[in-house]
Amino acid sequence: MKDILTAPFMEEFIRTTAEMYRHGWDERNGGNISMLLSESELEGLIDPERVVRTIPTGFDAPELDGRTFLVTGTGKYFKNVQYDPAKNLGLVRLSDGGRNAGLLWGLTDGGSVTSEFPAHMMSHVSRLAADPENRIIMHCHPNNLIAMTYVHDLDEREFTRTLWRMETECIVVFPEGVSVLPWMLCGTNEIGRATAQKLSLTRLCVWAQHGVYAAGRDLDEAFGLIETAEKAAEIYMKIAHLPIKNTITDARLRLLEARFGVKAREGYLD
Ligand code: 13P
Ligand code: ZN
Repeated sequence: MKDILTAPFMEEFIRTTAEMYRHGWDERNGGNISMLLSESELEGLIDPERVVRTIPTGFDAPELDGRTFLVTGTGKYFKNVQYDPAKNLGLVRLSDGGRNAGLLWGLTDGGSVTSEFPAHMMSHVSRLAADPENRIIMHCHPNNLIAMTYVHDLDEREFTRTLWRMETECIVVFPEGVSVLPWMLCGTNEIGRATAQKLSLTRLCVWAQHGVYAAGRDLDEAFGLIETAEKAAEIYMKIAHLPIKNTITDARLRLLEARFGVKAREGYLD
C-alpha cells in the first residue's frame, strides 16, 4: 500500500484546511469539509474491506451507499489538521443505506466524523443530482457573511442582489445566487435536509448567525465561492452605514451576464 498522506487529494485537502484557518473562517473547531472520492483515487491506498470501526449516522442516504468520503472530525481544529491529519480527519465508507459509516482510516484518537455529517451527506445527494461531478461540501464561519445576517434582510433575492452589487465579479462567480436559511439548530437532520434542499438550486447557502455552506466539483471551486461571497459581504459591512453615491445597476449586471456568458437566476434582476 502507498502512503495515503502523499495522495494528491489528501495534500490538497490538508492545504485547504490550513488556508481556511488562515482566512479566519474556522475558529477553534469551527467548520467542516467532506470530499467524495472515486475508487481509482483510493486504489492502492487502503483496503476497503478493513473497517476499523463503524459509526452510526442517524439518517438514510441510499444514494450514497458504498461511496467513500474524506471528512473532518468533530471537535477538531482546522489549524491542527496539517500537523496530525490522521487524528483530525477520517476516511469513511457509507453502508446499510447510509445508516452506517465504516471508518477505513484516520480519527486515530477514537473521534467521530463532523457533527454536521447529516448536512454534508444530504447535500452530497442533492448536489450529485444537480451536478454528477460535484465532490465537495464545505462549511465554515466567515465573519462578514455572518455579520451581514444580523443587519440585512434574509430574503434570498435581496441578499443575493446586495452581494452581486458589492463587487463586479460576484454575478459571474455565483450567477445562480445564494440561498439563505434562518437560524436553525445545527448538527441536526432537520438543518441537513433544509441545507440539501437549498444546495440543489445554489452552490452557496448562508446559515443566518452561523456561517455558510458551499458545494463544488473540487476544493478550489467551493473555497472560491466562499472567498468571493465573503469579500462582497465585507465590502457591504464597510459601506452599509455610509451614504451610497454609486452602485452596480441592474443594467450593468446584465452587461456582465452577456460579457461572461452567465445566466443570472431567473427573476433576480429587475
Ligand atoms: P464539528 O467540530 O462537529 O465539525 O462542528 C463545527 C461546526 O462548525 C458546527 O457547525
Ligand atoms: Zn458551523
